[in-house]
Amino acid sequence: MQVEGQQYRSIWLSEDGESVRIIDQNRLPHVFEIAELNAVEDAARAIEEMKVRGAPLIGATGAYGMALAMAGDPSDAMLTKAYSTLLETRPTAVNLRWALDRLFGALKAVDPEKRVGLAYRMAAEICDDDVLACEAIGLQGLGVIQSLAQTKSGDPVQILTHCNAGWLATVDWGTALAPIYKAHDLGIEVHVWVDETRPRNQGAHLTAWELSQHGVPHTVVVDNAGGHLMQKGSVDLCLVGTDRTTATGDVCNKIGTYIKALAAYDNGVPFYVAVPQSSIDWNIRDGGDIPIEERDPDEVALIQGVDDSGSTVRVRVMPRESQAANFAFDVTPARLVTGLITERGVCPATEEGLLELYPERRSAEQDGFR
Ligand code: MRU
Repeated sequence: MQVEGQQYRSIWLSEDGESVRIIDQNRLPHVFEIAELNAVEDAARAIEEMKVRGAPLIGATGAYGMALAMAGDPSDAMLTKAYSTLLETRPTAVNLRWALDRLFGALKAVDPEKRVGLAYRMAAEICDDDVLACEAIGLQGLGVIQSLAQTKSGDPVQILTHCNAGWLATVDWGTALAPIYKAHDLGIEVHVWVDETRPRNQGAHLTAWELSQHGVPHTVVVDNAGGHLMQKGSVDLCLVGTDRTTATGDVCNKIGTYIKALAAYDNGVPFYVAVPQSSIDWNIRDGGDIPIEERDPDEVALIQGVDDSGSTVRVRVMPRESQAANFAFDVTPARLVTGLITERGVCPATEEGLLELYPERRSAEQDGFR
């Protein structure tokens, strides 16, 4: 993706071939700052503090975290320690475990002296595969937007999105935003309603910034505006990402997604979820079994922005003596989801729908091994 006309990914290897660079997403949209990761602890902290966030990017950073660990010490002990340090950072996005399992298994199977090279190669491969998957999701989802555009007689297709499932949440392209970029690039008129996404405001901070960089018309709304907009007929499509989708099509995503799906259902608005394969948890059938991250209540009590002088400030928005709770994700049951947009095609949010696209999982299921 382009930032001020320059091509970027959200994570990349430095010229030294060892350290890893990221865009510090805690500083956006006001400051574009690149941070360097030099050790596994840096990668773990970047995930925990959400300098990097978004399910696919968390997985990619975890993979590079393993490579950084191996560069420091390729022993079995470090392999196990790096795996658990990284896995503990954030519990909900399954992409992290997916990436760490891939690296752990492959690295364990080779001699320690071969581990550094292999880890960097695998991390790079995970990043490249994510870019291909997201671009494919863009093309698959484009069809959904194109068919809605045909009903609009040249008026913009009105799309509501929640949180940030754009290129900042992946390595490039994004998941939910990829079809929007594809449609915009083809000259299809689109307008995006961007949920601000309290408490951390990924919509207002990140999605709005990304869409601005790409020139896509958009409007930021408070999280509670979606129901009203849908009642007024101002939303043609809800399009969101996911941190973990079960084998039966239940969708876990940023807190607040579920109430958007309820409002969409009540108002007959199609509700689609963009899902790369790395976000499917074939081991879970019931969305209620997905671990929901609870973060620091200060993220609710304090809000971050810049003042008129451009300095970053955090201000308190509730009484000091009140308690806050900070649930980071919720689960939208499959019955509220119109369709899943994957890199292999669009399918119903059902077990059968997913298995049609991923037939190789049928044999895993029959063997009782998922
Ligand atoms: O807490 P975050 O910012 O990591 O949450 C991100 C989301 O909920 C995204 O919608 C999800 O990861 C899909 S990203 C392509």
